[in-house]
Amino acid sequence: MEHYIVNGGKRLEGSVTISGAKNAALAIIPAAILAGESCRIDNLPQIEDVRLFANILSGIGAKTEFVESGSLLIDPSTINTYDVTADMVSSFRASYYLLGALLGRYGRAKVALPGGCTIGARPIDLHIKGFRALGAKVCIEKGAVCVEGERLTGAEIYLDIASVGATINIMLAAVRAEGRTVIVNAAKEPYIVDLANFLNMMGASVKGAGTDTIKISGKKKLHGRNYSIIPDMMEAGTFMIAAAATGGDVVINNVIPTHLEAISAKLMEAGASVEEGDDGRDFYIRVKADKPLRSVNIKTLPYPGFPTDLQQPMTALLATARGTSIITETLFEDRFKHVSELCRMGADIRVRGQSAVIDGRQGLDGTRLYASDLRAGAALVVAALAASGKSDIYNIHYIDRGYERFEEKLRALGADIERVE
Ligand code: EPZ
Repeated sequence: MEHYIVNGGKRLEGSVTISGAKNAALAIIPAAILAGESCRIDNLPQIEDVRLFANILSGIGAKTEFVESGSLLIDPSTINTYDVTADMVSSFRASYYLLGALLGRYGRAKVALPGGCTIGARPIDLHIKGFRALGAKVCIEKGAVCVEGERLTGAEIYLDIASVGATINIMLAAVRAEGRTVIVNAAKEPYIVDLANFLNMMGASVKGAGTDTIKISGKKKLHGRNYSIIPDMMEAGTFMIAAAATGGDVVINNVIPTHLEAISAKLMEAGASVEEGDDGRDFYIRVKADKPLRSVNIKTLPYPGFPTDLQQPMTALLATARGTSIITETLFEDRFKHVSELCRMGADIRVRGQSAVIDGRQGLDGTRLYASDLRAGAALVVAALAASGKSDIYNIHYIDRGYERFEEKLRALGADIERVE
């Protein structure tokens, strides 16, 4: 099993270029089914989850081909089944977007459901509520969700929680429903806007993406299009945090600064300097931390609040900041599994319900560490880079799901990190 060896204590310096957004890719790849014609998606991150999704589409009969780096050709016209079986899905949660996409295109789908994951139960009741509101029949049998609705009719759907996944899944089905759909209390994440832009390029009519009310007028036919996805705000945020945690000076290229306002604000509050600019081609953010950081309090919230996906890397940074920080996780019920690993490095963190109380202290010590999920893995890398001494980080397959060439990009910034068998 591969793992990382990190020798910490080195300042990160230089520049890094951000790849395409994993969570935009995972919404836009299934959306390509809706046209029934070929699409090309560009700027895809070369990560495990993207490869997995392409394989699943091939598994149901679509033609998929990666052309040059980061571009995927999808021809859905040869899809020959609507049954996405358990062995295709394994633990890949985003495959549930095929429910909305196949329902929207063919009027039916059956997708095996992965269980919860290490950050919480992650139910899909709101996805199902949306499909039923559109007139589809939904049942759960033998661990798979079956949806059926030859003729979908637009509806007003109120989301009890501004769920990213439910908003995306309902959009995928509603663009082909007859009449108007209104999603109330919709998620506002940039991925939703990116998906809406792609759908509208295909000929759909999606208005209000990025606000809490999305209005969709269904269309009978959508067309294949080429589309380039947005840069990954969570990858960018992870590098911003790593730069600050190592007292470094890093320019993060190919970002959309408005997507990163919450993390920029918190890093500045902690005493790092954060500067935005553009080099005529791309926007960049430069993060410098030439003095010890101060403690800050953080509460994760749906976009544009502080993102839950950066809560874990931020915990690693605050473990070495001066003073007591409190991080409250409001989106997932079990997203502190990285804390016990940080404590084994000497961090002083106590989890109390949905909050972690962090007493920052100088100097964590490297040791053997085990990632429990994607962003916990990123948090352990940040901690190991800031720690003194050697760390061995295991279960890095979680990291490979969401970060493209992570150790390569970090090494180019001066980190002493390598992947070993
Ligand atoms: C998406 O997950 C992201 N994943 C997550 O990123 C991200 O943490 C999350 O949104 C929040 O921003 C992808 O986009 C592939 P939610 P999702 O539905 O859609 C509850 C990463 O690290 N809920 O907004 O599953 C749910 O349990 C991953 O890249 C219901 O109760 O998140 C959670 O408590 C991790 N019923 C809350 O809503 C539902 O039907 C927010 O979940 C759906 C969700």
